Amino acid sequence: MSNQVKIFDTTLRDGEQSPGCSMNLREKLEIAKCLEKMKVDIIEAGFAISSPGDFESVNEIAKAVKDCTVASLARAAQKDIDTAWEAVKVAADPRIHVFIATSPVHMEYKLRMTPEQVLARTAEMVAYAKKYCSNIEFSAEDATRSEPEFLAKVVDTAIKNGATVLNIPDTVGYTTPNEMRALIEYLIKTVPNADKVEFSVHCHNDLGMGVANSLAGVLGGARQIECTVNGLGERAGNTSLEEVVMAMHTRPDLYNVTTRLDTTQIYRTSKAVYTVIGQNAPLNKPIVGKNAFAHESGIHQHGVLANKQTYEILTPEAVGIHTNNIVLGKHSGKHAFESHLKELGYTLTPEELLSCFEEFKVLCDKKKTINDADIEAIVLHKASVEELDESAAFTLDWFDVHTSNFTTATSTVCLKKDGEKYEGVSLGDGPIDASFKAIDNIVNPVEHTLELYTINSTSEGKDTLGDVSVKLKAGDRTYVGRGLSTDIIEASLKAYINAVNKMQAAVQA
Ligand code: KIV
Ligand code: ZN
Repeated sequence: MSNQVKIFDTTLRDGEQSPGCSMNLREKLEIAKCLEKMKVDIIEAGFAISSPGDFESVNEIAKAVKDCTVASLARAAQKDIDTAWEAVKVAADPRIHVFIATSPVHMEYKLRMTPEQVLARTAEMVAYAKKYCSNIEFSAEDATRSEPEFLAKVVDTAIKNGATVLNIPDTVGYTTPNEMRALIEYLIKTVPNADKVEFSVHCHNDLGMGVANSLAGVLGGARQIECTVNGLGERAGNTSLEEVVMAMHTRPDLYNVTTRLDTTQIYRTSKAVYTVIGQNAPLNKPIVGKNAFAHESGIHQHGVLANKQTYEILTPEAVGIHTNNIVLGKHSGKHAFESHLKELGYTLTPEELLSCFEEFKVLCDKKKTINDADIEAIVLHKASVEELDESAAFTLDWFDVHTSNFTTATSTVCLKKDGEKYEGVSLGDGPIDASFKAIDNIVNPVEHTLELYTINSTSEGKDTLGDVSVKLKAGDRTYVGRGLSTDIIEASLKAYINAVNKMQAAVQA
């Protein structure tokens, strides 16, 4: 058996379908490019039949990505498979991922099918997909709550009809490492021709065991892990890519496997995903959280200074975190700025570079020293903000806010669109409420609610940048806007305008 484990990333499908994580086409393409650069093996780009928007993003990702397999999910139904194929067929290496549930509870109450019908449908639909594409993955949804003998029959049927990857999902995050390992070993031992195909695990994290169960699957013989960046996913999420990859990387003595993943892209990709969904890593998030490599206690610091291995099992550099933190300032030129960005893992187009450099220069006038976190924030914000057609999007021209703890806050905001200027004014319960209402008075946006407003500092020091994230909900979609400024009201206004622009563009499309 090969010792190469393939990383199947489903951030753009299982991750994106979870509440509050929806992304637009440009955001999905940006993440797909990060995933390609990080060298995941397979990108599950979406569920093509689920909406025209999903179809388009699967199709655009299939066109854009050259170095990974691109997959679309499909239920075991002809129309799903036709649509999945239509979306991925342009890919350099397309895959159709067909699934059907195999547990008693799913078959009886969700599918309303007998086990015999599920077997017949598996045979028919895997064979149908195989006519289009040689690379077929089959998933037995809720496999870990299925009868093992029946599951083996379904897997056998899928292999006989052309499936080359057999995925065993723990759909509801119910299993344990011992069970997962035993299940994969059982399937590999009992199903004919199991050695000619690849087994895969897809674990959810409801009991906090997604990563542990995936690793146990590898010990049992699985050679593909399905996971998401930052562990995004419904409910408690999916197996976290960065955790499962770094576990294999750190413990070759146990797992004895390799991946082709470029681990130095992990931190950057994680940041990009958090930026798009308007969240930040929890401080203690393994691998990518701010405290993941921080040694605060005296005893730990003493040990690490004497020998890093006392408390450090993996290095921040291995996941692309730069600890030398070169400080740039107003005398740094474009060349130094560009080469520092490259060191941080960012290669920008000349236009992106120019625009980020201009922003950097503006920041130099406001802040004495600029560190890596500030620079990363500039780049990620540029990527998330500069996306909409100038003529259709509002930008901030100026604002004038008055607030105190004994008067009602008032805000006057001037926005620009297509060369025209628009002014709005409002009272509010504080400066942010007044400013958002002033913007609403100009834009008159669709009905929506403010789901989330967060503000973080990008680095230490009182002159730090305020990094604001605003999430708006209209219908069943959410729209994230980000704003960055040393002035937190300006950052909030920019974030809100960014989210409103996205929301209006989506509803008018
Ligand atoms: O969790 C699950 O079972 C899935 C399948 C569709 C692979 O996401
Ligand atoms: Zn899933």
